[in-house]
Amino acid sequence: MPQHAAQRDCYSEQLRASGYVRSACVLEDTDMVSLMGTFHELIDDVYGQPSDQGQKILDAFATNVPGRELNSKGFIERRRMGVVSAYEIGRSPATEDKDLLHFTPQTAEAVTAAFGTRMPKLVRVLLGQCQDVYRAMSDSLRPVTAAYGLEDVIFAPKGSELDNIHILRLLGYPGKPGAVEAGQAMSKAELHLDRSKFSAVGAWESRSGLVGIPAQNGYLHPEITASDFNALAKEALESPIACTPGQAIIFLGAGFNHLPYDMRANLDPDVPLLLHGFHDHQPELPRDTAVLFANEQRGVPGIGSPGAHETGFSDIMKFLLAREKMQFAEPANS
Ligand SMILES: [Fe+2]
Repeated sequence: MPQHAAQRDCYSEQLRASGYVRSACVLEDTDMVSLMGTFHELIDDVYGQPSDQGQKILDAFATNVPGRELNSKGFIERRRMGVVSAYEIGRSPATEDKDLLHFTPQTAEAVTAAFGTRMPKLVRVLLGQCQDVYRAMSDSLRPVTAAYGLEDVIFAPKGSELDNIHILRLLGYPGKPGAVEAGQAMSKAELHLDRSKFSAVGAWESRSGLVGIPAQNGYLHPEITASDFNALAKEALESPIACTPGQAIIFLGAGFNHLPYDMRANLDPDVPLLLHGFHDHQPELPRDTAVLFANEQRGVPGIGSPGAHETGFSDIMKFLLAREKMQFAEPANS
């Protein structure tokens, strides 16, 4: 058996067993604690004391990827409950407080163009740290994409790195005092499939709570019932994923199902996605996390992405229940 086929079968076995594979994620010039520290310092500065300089920083980080959908934008944003994002147009008002940074390959260029040689030190440090983490997490994905014959679909050729449209997302949750007393533990409603083709997480989690289980895309598989999916979600909440320093956890997002069939020819069609979330046992504490969402590079056009209707647990359940209702309503002899 060729080596890549053996590696692919090994990955498939792991994906079926747990929904993810572990892959080395080696940071060279920074560490995640420093990066998250820089991120918090900058966003506290910018939102704490609004100023022209702060607005210039926000504007510089707001990058568009031409021709891509809303989840490919770069930005920094302090998002607060009930407020609509200024950057991700079309999203519902936020259901929780969080600080976000979306770093794309275009970010460094855009920020450098905005400031030239007068870049604030904190911005310069943040860019360098993001570049290192972006590279490390991208590298952790490469062996998995290569084993499935998709490395050239996901990664642009050397020298054309700006054609990669992966996003590094940093997230800081401030913690919710009194959340435990108020019974605000995580619910199944927050479980989801990612929209990406591949995702990498776990290179940094400030505390444990990541949970997940292998799952098929309920929207695309007619044999999956609402009851099956509900049972799966219950199990997902009780299936912790341990994070280990130096390793990323790689899994498939619902976007994977949107790759044309010939690109997935090397893949067992039943290889599962990861239904996942964060089962927070200490919601009163702040939490930091980082994730890399990978999609096809710009030189491979014409591939769709899933919408919220096939990624959020509640949306999928709504769809499955409606489908069952319709099937039930069909005349028996039709
Ligand atoms: Fe996710």
